[in-house]
Amino acid sequence: MIIEEMQTYYGRRASVYDSSMGYDDDAKVLSLLPIIERVRETMRGRHVLEIACGPGFWTQFASEAAASVVATDYNQSTLDEAKNKSLPFDRVSLLLADAYRLDLILGVFDAIFSVDWLAHVPLSKMESFLSGALGRVRSGSPLMFIDQLPGEHSVSGVYDTDGNHIQERTLPDGSTFRVIKHFFRDDQIAALFSAFDGDLSIQRFPECRRLIVTFIPTISEDASSDGDNVRV
Ligand SMILES: C[S@@+](CC[C@H](N)C(=O)[O-])C[C@H]1O[C@@H](n2cnc3c(N)ncnc32)[C@H](O)[C@@H]1O
Repeated sequence: MIIEEMQTYYGRRASVYDSSMGYDDDAKVLSLLPIIERVRETMRGRHVLEIACGPGFWTQFASEAAASVVATDYNQSTLDEAKNKSLPFDRVSLLLADAYRLDLILGVFDAIFSVDWLAHVPLSKMESFLSGALGRVRSGSPLMFIDQLPGEHSVSGVYDTDGNHIQERTLPDGSTFRVIKHFFRDDQIAALFSAFDGDLSIQRFPECRRLIVTFIPTISEDASSDGDNVRV
């Protein structure tokens, strides 16, 4: 199953993830400043649930402005990398958690944050994933998803029977893996959120090949009715 293949791939890529993304390159990080600024603005003062945080590059910027961050990932290897970052650990906790079981995470949140994750969610799981994320915040809380815009060689032209765009990835040891990687058009993004009530904003930043999708629910799936979203 491709979900497990992606989990294994990212688990094994953890130690080289940041460098492979250019996150250790000052010029690359500088190019991402418009995105970083928006992360800080949107997360300011909030109690943030970060989904699929990886080695925590983006956790750094969310946590600069947030009141607290619970940064979660499926792979312990990525969290181990994040532990080595100089994060404000009085306000940041790292937690092993499956993005498809957000209901198991303890805490009350008023923002969801995730980078380079939505593009990996299989279309067949998208609605239940978004519903799970919405179920963790009260109405009026932002869900911020940041993904990549395609580069010259990003589109493989390979799709599975569900319509997921498939790429093949190779790790430094030569092992290869298939990953789902969507490059959505705006109308496709709107369709993903069409089952939910709220305000959707889509911003594209071609100069740094990034996309920011922000959704602010007007009615939370589970949380608004009883005023408390803790589900244990
Ligand atoms: C493309 S990386 C993004 C990492 C990080 N957000 C960043 O941008 O630096 C995708 C991340 O998703 C994590 N992941 C894969 N499957 C997951 C799942 N089912 N639940 C939570 N995290 C998952 C991987 O371990 C990996 O860290």
